[in-house]
Amino acid sequence: MKCRICTNSIEPFIFFGKMPIANGFLIENDFQNEFYFDMNTAFCEKCFTVQLEHQPNPDMMFHENYAFFSRQSKKMKDHFKEYADWVFKNYLIGKNDPFVVEIGSNDGILLENFSKKNIRHLGIEPSANVGNEARKHGVNTETRFFNTDTAKHILNKYGKADVILAANVMCHIPDLKNIAEAASNVLNQDGLLIFEDPYLGDMIKKTSYDQIYDEHVYIFSAMSIKNIFGKYGFELINLLPQSTHGGSMRYILSKKGSYKAEKIVDEFLLKEKKMGLDSQKTYEKFRKNCEKSRDDLIKVLKEEKKKKNRVVAYGATSKSTTILNYCKIGPDLIEYISDTTPIKQDKFSPGMHIPVKNYSNFIEAPPDTTLLFAWNHAEEIMEKENKYTKNGGKWIVHVPNVKKF
Ligand code: SAH
Ligand code: TYD
Repeated sequence: MKCRICTNSIEPFIFFGKMPIANGFLIENDFQNEFYFDMNTAFCEKCFTVQLEHQPNPDMMFHENYAFFSRQSKKMKDHFKEYADWVFKNYLIGKNDPFVVEIGSNDGILLENFSKKNIRHLGIEPSANVGNEARKHGVNTETRFFNTDTAKHILNKYGKADVILAANVMCHIPDLKNIAEAASNVLNQDGLLIFEDPYLGDMIKKTSYDQIYDEHVYIFSAMSIKNIFGKYGFELINLLPQSTHGGSMRYILSKKGSYKAEKIVDEFLLKEKKMGLDSQKTYEKFRKNCEKSRDDLIKVLKEEKKKKNRVVAYGATSKSTTILNYCKIGPDLIEYISDTTPIKQDKFSPGMHIPVKNYSNFIEAPPDTTLLFAWNHAEEIMEKENKYTKNGGKWIVHVPNVKKF
């Protein structure tokens, strides 16, 4: 295969097997026609980018029935308020009539904080259903993909932007050259492109291989961001580690020559080198860790079955699609997955077809053991399920190691 960034010849270091659309929760009638692709992940030794060999077409993943709504987590609402306040304080205060654009604004969880302050803003969101939800929260949203055509549209209708923001979407977009060109056209000369995504360093450290699924065509590091966007006229001038989604990184980029990079950028690049994020060997070891994690998880679940314990999973995450299909865990081992998102309920999980049920089921008849798929929201969920735990309910987590407690 060819590296998506530098066209260097590369080989996958892990083959997860056939995978369905991670957010493609479905009804029984659609089992026959379910779509699968080969999920292979590769690393490029030239530009240091971890990437999928194949990715389904964007319109198969992002459409009017998109299943991920950002507002399901209270802690994420707090996080996005902090993100907005931080952007405002650092980059918008004192500006005359600033304009903020967000790529992948989903249900408006971030932009509503600008809307409430009467700051001019625009969300670019291709999935119509989540975009409609954003409008209900007063967020100006256009249903389209961000690209150079959309950039022209923004310039015609709204003019240049002071900041372009994104969260958990840059890593979804295969053609980053086009994104960089579009962002460059929309931004003022002193404008900033700021985005956060799950961080490769955390994924390697925690063996959280479930960060790899169809939408995540890239798992970024500071090294890869510097190389990718450096090719396309941007400079990485600052970064800020985040605890969200199991460990993320916020990257701050400017047009080349517009700002001086902070010292922390070089410090992080060095740190990543020390971690071996630039070396194929690290990914070979990661593969072995994934295999061990898979075997350990299957073992724990089989022990539960032997003991006749009722096992339910918590959070029908996109991440869980990778775990279930890679480990081949089906309804024989997990009774159902509890989730608070209405569009996922009364459907089946992609590929392995475990029923997804309303959270009320979990409350009304608590299981013996709960597999925490939404491990990235552990703090929030452990607080919420304090009573379950106090009453003797057990948990299984698989990150950073498979463990029952
Ligand atoms: N920013 C939110 C949503 C992340 S999910 C959060 O962090 O919670 C990713 C979102 O990006 C989805 O709503 C999806 O529809 C949207 N998206 C995917 N590709 C996109 C593209 N090329 N341009 C704009 N949005 C995109
Ligand atoms: P999340 O881990 O945020 O994302 P991804 O799909 O990218 O892996 O998904 C969390 C899922 O868990 C989402 O479907 C909502 C659900 N959820 C609950 O059911 N209860 C909760 O208390 C929380 C925080 C999330």
